Amino acid sequence: MQEQLATEDIVANVKVYEVGPRDGLQNEATFISTEDKLKLIHALLDANLPLVEMTSFVHPRWIPALADADQIAHAFVGSEQSQRVSALVPNARGLDRALNAECKEIAVFMSASETHNQRNINKTKAETYLAFEPVFKACHEKNIKVRAYVSVVWGCPYEGQVSPNASIEVCQRLLDMGAYEVSLGDTIGIGNPQQTKKILDAMSKHISLDKLAMHMHDTWGRALANCLAGLEMGIRTFDASIGGLGGCPYAPGASGNLATEDLVSMLHEMGYHTGISWPKLIKAGRIAQDLIGRPLPSRALQAALASQKNLDC
Ligand code: HMG
Ligand code: MG
Repeated sequence: MQEQLATEDIVANVKVYEVGPRDGLQNEATFISTEDKLKLIHALLDANLPLVEMTSFVHPRWIPALADADQIAHAFVGSEQSQRVSALVPNARGLDRALNAECKEIAVFMSASETHNQRNINKTKAETYLAFEPVFKACHEKNIKVRAYVSVVWGCPYEGQVSPNASIEVCQRLLDMGAYEVSLGDTIGIGNPQQTKKILDAMSKHISLDKLAMHMHDTWGRALANCLAGLEMGIRTFDASIGGLGGCPYAPGASGNLATEDLVSMLHEMGYHTGISWPKLIKAGRIAQDLIGRPLPSRALQAALASQKNLDC
């Protein structure tokens, strides 16, 4: 795989942003211990994922699976890896917790539709911009990088279709506030490649595509096809979750994210360069699967594990 590529075979750089420990584990009914979560995060860092979203400073009543966010983040204080981990922050209270844990990067999130925004973070979109102002200001002063998510860009579980203009407006506001990148979320995994091209085409008239990432859920099995459409349009950052773990508890019908192994396998086979170690990624996938205690949806993980088993025979 990637290790065998000669330099001349590398056609481009693609960044893979790992969300498994946050977006993946936030949806698990069984609480995974802090020690086990840290084991997974370290395995992902060891596999060379450039950035790992380690946890979420939301209210533990809303996301009980990540109630140990403070302990997780504190484990990286002063560590060499502290620049390579990030955490979700919904408001100033969340930022206080991130500052307390000396986070170097955070991610804010809101939705393109009013109803999903209200259900997910209990605020209108206008209230959310106001709540983000002190967060961006403090991050700017303290030199903390801010990434942003815009959810339900491909469709909302409550409102149905979402116009690209609504998403463009939210993206522009977040970039103007100081986000270095906005990740477009297909929160319920209903997009198709044609729609992806239309959305990105509309976006590209207002926003440079190098400011955008794609965050696709795989509910209907189209996440990888959507990413390929995005890749062809010029997107070079994709979010993915180890093993295909994940979902949003406030988006009925949302299932796992695009699996990191499926994305990386496709990219490497096409000659793209990610810097990720394939054998170590599979090791991380196996760790995730063992922690969860059931086979994970990633096709590439299952194929790699089966071929390892065959070699062992
Ligand atoms: P709220 O109840 O409206 O908060 O929740 P509030 O401001 O009214 O405060 C109520 C109490 O909560 C107060 O405590 C606050 O201090 C406390 P009290 O005075 O009553 O003792 N509080 C907090 N405590 C800890 N951490 C905080 C915090 N904020 C307030 N950050 C809130 C508002 C945003 C907190 C809540 O709605 C929430 O936590 N929502 C998170 C929902 C969530 O995590 N959803 C999943 C992530 S989004 C996603 O998955 C999509 C994404 O992956 C992209 C995609 O797929 O599209 C990113
Ligand atoms: Mg998500």
